[in-house]
Amino acid sequence: MKPTILIYDSGMGGLTIYDEIRKKIPNAYYIYCFDNAYFPYSEKSESELVARAEHIVQKIIKKHPLDLVVVACNTASTVVLPTLRKKFDIEVVGTVPAIKPAAQISQTKTIGLLATKGTVNRRYVQELIDSYAKECVVEKIGSTTLVELAEQKMQTNTVDSEKLQEIIATWQSNPKLDTVILGCTHFPVVKKELQQLLPQVKNFIDSGKAIANRVEFLLKTKKIAEKSSFDNIAYCTKVTKNIKDQENIMIKNGLKRLDFI
Ligand code: DGL
Repeated sequence: MKPTILIYDSGMGGLTIYDEIRKKIPNAYYIYCFDNAYFPYSEKSESELVARAEHIVQKIIKKHPLDLVVVACNTASTVVLPTLRKKFDIEVVGTVPAIKPAAQISQTKTIGLLATKGTVNRRYVQELIDSYAKECVVEKIGSTTLVELAEQKMQTNTVDSEKLQEIIATWQSNPKLDTVILGCTHFPVVKKELQQLLPQVKNFIDSGKAIANRVEFLLKTKKIAEKSSFDNIAYCTKVTKNIKDQENIMIKNGLKRLDFI
């Protein structure tokens, strides 16, 4: 039986998670939703993020019976998971910064957390640091502009390298920094550019593979209900003039079409 998996994010960044899951579990129905009406999530209030999560899952579940939801967004996952799990009778997998593996792999015990403004200030993230990276110096950069740059790259294939350099400038003069956590699902998209600007960094770590493993594990233990077949599909929450380009990106990623919820 094929499971139905909803993956959502504020924008195109969650496709980096979707990619990893799809590689691991090709035999599933995928629904990708991007909440472009509220993009970027970076500085949105916690109550707004919870309301959006409930809205999206509620809307999609009315159209498709879901087996599992992946919140492919660190900014949202650090606040919305308890509400989603309480409200819906479905497995929910969140995406949080890979602090534990980064602390383990760093030789210099100096790691950088690159995430949104919201994520770097969350209590949840501080708790992860206190539990798993106590022996490390953790340098944090929270940026909304970087989310916008990555989204732009996904949609136009261009990156404003000057702006990118300004964002991470303080890390360029830190020779001890050997590991950077890409703590936003948009950031693997600009990994190549970051590597060029930070040659001292040996490890760039994102959560994609760990999320895919978690999804695979949860689905193995779950009874998947029989359902009628449908095409993998994408949804957005606002129709903009870019809708055709966005639909083309979705189609390139194996989703049949882009609809609006
Ligand atoms: N991609 C999301 C994350 O992982 C959200 C980026 C944003 O919209 O600010 O945090």
